[in-house]
Amino acid sequence: MNLRDPSHEIEVFERNAPGVTFGWGVVFSDLTVDNITRNDPASAKTINEELAHWDDIDVHFRGETITSGGHGFIGIGRKRLLEILQDRARALGVVLHFNAECDPTDSKWRDYDLVIASDGSNSRFRDAQPEAFGVDVDVRANKFVWLGTSKVFDAFTFAFEETEHGWIWAHAYRFAPDCSTFIVECSEETWRSFGFDRMSQDESIASCERLFARYLDGHSLQSNATHLVGSAAWLNFKRIKCERWSSGNVILLGDAAHTAHFSIGSGTKLALEDAIKLADLLNRKGLSLEAALDEYQAERSLEVLKLQNSARNSTEWFETLERYTHFEPLQFAYSLLTRSQRISHENLRLRDREWLETVERWFWKRATEGKSNKTAPPMFAPFKLREMEVMNRVTVSPMAMYSAVDGVPNDFHFVHYGERAIGGAGLVFTEMTCVSPEGRISPGCTGMWNGDHIAAWKRIVDFVHTQSKAKICLQLGHSGAKGSTKLGWEGNDVPLDDGNWPVMAASDVPWSPVNQVPRPMTRADMDTVRDQFVAAVRMGLEAGFDMVELHAAHGYLLAGFISPLQNKRTDEYGGSLENRLRFPLEVFAAMRAAWPKERPMSVRISATDWAGESGITPDEAVLIGEAFAQEGADLIDVSAGQTWAGQQPVYGRMFQTPFSDRIRNEGKLATMAVGNIYEPDHANSILAAGRADLVALARPHLVDPFWTLRAAAALDYREVAVPPQYLNGMAQLARNMKREAEAAAALRV
Ligand SMILES: Cc1cc2nc3c(=O)[nH]c(=O)nc-3n(C[C@H](O)[C@H](O)[C@H](O)COP(=O)(O)OP(=O)(O)OC[C@H]3O[C@@H](n4cnc5c(N)ncnc54)[C@H](O)[C@@H]3O)c2cc1C
Ligand SMILES: Cc1cc2nc3c(=O)[nH]c(=O)nc-3n(C[C@H](O)[C@H](O)[C@H](O)COP(=O)(O)O)c2cc1C
Repeated sequence: MNLRDPSHEIEVFERNAPGVTFGWGVVFSDLTVDNITRNDPASAKTINEELAHWDDIDVHFRGETITSGGHGFIGIGRKRLLEILQDRARALGVVLHFNAECDPTDSKWRDYDLVIASDGSNSRFRDAQPEAFGVDVDVRANKFVWLGTSKVFDAFTFAFEETEHGWIWAHAYRFAPDCSTFIVECSEETWRSFGFDRMSQDESIASCERLFARYLDGHSLQSNATHLVGSAAWLNFKRIKCERWSSGNVILLGDAAHTAHFSIGSGTKLALEDAIKLADLLNRKGLSLEAALDEYQAERSLEVLKLQNSARNSTEWFETLERYTHFEPLQFAYSLLTRSQRISHENLRLRDREWLETVERWFWKRATEGKSNKTAPPMFAPFKLREMEVMNRVTVSPMAMYSAVDGVPNDFHFVHYGERAIGGAGLVFTEMTCVSPEGRISPGCTGMWNGDHIAAWKRIVDFVHTQSKAKICLQLGHSGAKGSTKLGWEGNDVPLDDGNWPVMAASDVPWSPVNQVPRPMTRADMDTVRDQFVAAVRMGLEAGFDMVELHAAHGYLLAGFISPLQNKRTDEYGGSLENRLRFPLEVFAAMRAAWPKERPMSVRISATDWAGESGITPDEAVLIGEAFAQEGADLIDVSAGQTWAGQQPVYGRMFQTPFSDRIRNEGKLATMAVGNIYEPDHANSILAAGRADLVALARPHLVDPFWTLRAAAALDYREVAVPPQYLNGMAQLARNMKREAEAAAALRV
C-alpha cells in the first residue's frame, strides 16, 4: 500500500517478537519471484540474492533412490523472508508492533478504515465471524511435524520408510546454505502406533532422528514450534475455504482466507499474491471500496481454487500412500511427481528427457513381458486381456447414436464404427446395445435380440477386423427406469410424446418427476432379463465381437439395483451392498458362462452417485469392482454418476480418473479410465502413473475419429496402425506437427 501511495497510514500488529516464527523454509517457483519482482524490485533483489536453488528430486523408496532433474526450485528461510519484508516495510513508513496479540473483539479496530486479517490458518478475526465469512474447514487425515536440520540436502528429497508401525516419510529441502526444512508425515494410525501421541516434543524429534538417520548423516532435527508442547507439535493440516473474504472493515488475506497444502508448497505465494492484488485494487483510482473487494475475491479465488484442486490431489496421494507402495520404485516416483495432476508426462519430458525415457522403456518392458523396451509413449503400448491383445491403450468409449430402426444398426453405424476403427484406437466400444425392445433407452437405440441385429452387427465387426487392427467390444445394457425416452438430441431422459412403453426397475422410483413410475421387478422379470442378456451374448459371439461389456452404470436397470438411491427393495435384492449387487452379479455370471473363456469381459460401473454418503461412494466402488472381478470380469470400466437426477458432480480434466486409480490400486484390478481425458498427455500420464490400464475417450472421438493417429503424429510415433490408403497424409501431418513443435520450442527459448 505504501509503495503505491506513501500517504497511507499502515500499522502491523504481530503477536511474536521480531525474528520469531514457526516453520522453516518456503519454496517458490520462478513465476512467484517474477510477481514479487514486478511488485517491488527493491525487496525482490534482496530475496533473489539469498534464494537457494536446486533442480533434482530424489525419491528414496524400498532401498532405491530415483533421481529426476529439471524441477527448478528456489527456497528461502521463513525467518529471513520476514526480516527482509519487515525491513522494507519500515523503510516505506509502515509502523510495526511486535509482541502485540490482537483481539478481534477489541473496539479499537473500528477506528481503522480497513483491518487486513492476515493472521494465518487459525485466524481469530475469521473465527470471530464464521458465518459472515462462510468458513469451511477440512481437517486432513495425516499427521505432520515441521522440523529443520543443519543437514544440507542437494536435492528436494522424499524419503519413505516402511516400519513395523506403517509407512512414515519426510519431505526435505535446503532453504539456506546451512539449513534444510524437514517435514515428517504419516497416517494417524501409524502415529499412534509409534506412540507419538504420548511423547514429548524432544522424544518425538529423537524418534524421527533415529527413523531417518540414514538421510541425516549425523545432523540433528530441531523444532521451532516452541509454543506447541508435547504431541501438539504434530498437526493435522487444515484445508480452509471461505465463501466471502470480507465483512465490514475486515478483509481476509493469505492462510486466514484459504490454505493449499504443504506438499505443494504454495501458501506463501498465495498470501503474497493476495497482498499485491489487494494493494493494486485499493489504490486503483475511481474504484469504490466495494467494487475493489469484489474484484479482489473474484480474481484471487479463481487462482486459489486451481491450487486447492491440485493441493487436494496431492494431499490425498499422501493420505492413501499405501495404495501405491506395491509399485516398483520408478513408477512410485512417477506417481509421486504427477500426483497433483499439475505436472504431466510431457512436463516431465521437458524437465528431464532422459529420466522420462527410462520410465517409458520400463513401461514398454512391462507391457510386452520383456519383449520390447522401446522409448515410446505409454498410450501406444499393447495390453492383453485373456487372449485378446489390443495394439494400444486408447479406447473409443461407448456412445449411443440414437440412429437405429427397430434396434438394427444401419449404414450410419457402419461408417461411424468403421471410421473410428481405422482411426487408430486399439479398442472400439459399441453404444449401449439393448437386450430387448423395452430395454431400449429410446426408439433409436441399437439392439441385440434377433437375427437382423446379428447380421447388421456382423457386417460392422467384419469391417473392423478386415480393414483395421482394432478390436471391437459389444456393450450390452437395459434401460430400466430411464427407458422410453426421446432421442438424445431431442431431450435427455424426456419421455416420448406418444408411443411410450411401460418400464421396470429395481423399485418404483421414477428417474425424475416427468418420467414414468417403473414397475418393481419380480423374480420372474429377473429371470427373463438375465436370459435376454445371455441370449444377446450368444448373438454377440455369432456376430464375431472380441469382447463384451455389461453396462451397470449411469442409472440404467442394473445401476438402479446397485445404487441405494434407486433401489428401495426390502427383499434379498435390496438393503446392503451385497444384496443390491446380487442381481447384477447373477446377470454377469450368466453372461460369462455363455462367453468363450479366451475372450474378455468388462463391466461399466458408476464409481460414485455424487451424493455423498447417501449414495454409492468411491470406497464401495472398490468392493463393487472386486465383486464383478470374482465373477470373471477382466476389466472394470470406471465411469461415475448419472445414477440420480440430483447428482452434484465435480467436473474437471480427467475428473473420474481418481476412481479408476482407487479401484485399480486398492482392488488390484485392471481398469479403464474415462471422463474428460482429451489430450495424449492426459492418456500418457494416467497410464504411466498406473491410474488405469486403458483410457477411453468419448466426445473427443465424436469430432475426431482419427484422434489416435493425430496423437501419434504429434508425438512422432511411427509404428501406429495407419490404413495404407492414408499413409501419405499421416507422413505429411507428422512433418507439419514436428515443424510446428520446433517453432514453438524456438519461441520458448
Ligand atoms: C509444514 C508446512 C510447510 C509449508 N511449506 C511451504 C512452502 O514451501 N512454500 C509456501 O509457499 N508455503 C508453505 N507453507 C504454507 C505457508 O507457511 C503459509 O501458507 C503462509 O505462511 C501463509 O502466510 P500468512 O501470512 O497468511 O500466515 P502465517 O504465516 O501463519 O502468518 C500469520 C501471522 O499472524 C500472527 N498472528 C496470528 N494471530 C495473531 C493475533 N491474534 N495477534 C497477533 N498476531 C497474530 C502469527 O504469529 C503469524 O506471524 C507451508 C505450511 C506448512 C504447515
Ligand atoms: C453422445 C454420447 C452418448 C453416450 N452413450 C453412452 C453409452 O451408450 N454407454 C455408456 O456407457 N456411456 C455412454 N456415454 C458416456 C461416454 O462413454 C463417456 O463415459 C462420457 O462421455 C465421458 O467421456 P468423455 O469426457 O470422453 O466424453 C455417452 C456419451 C455421449 C457424449
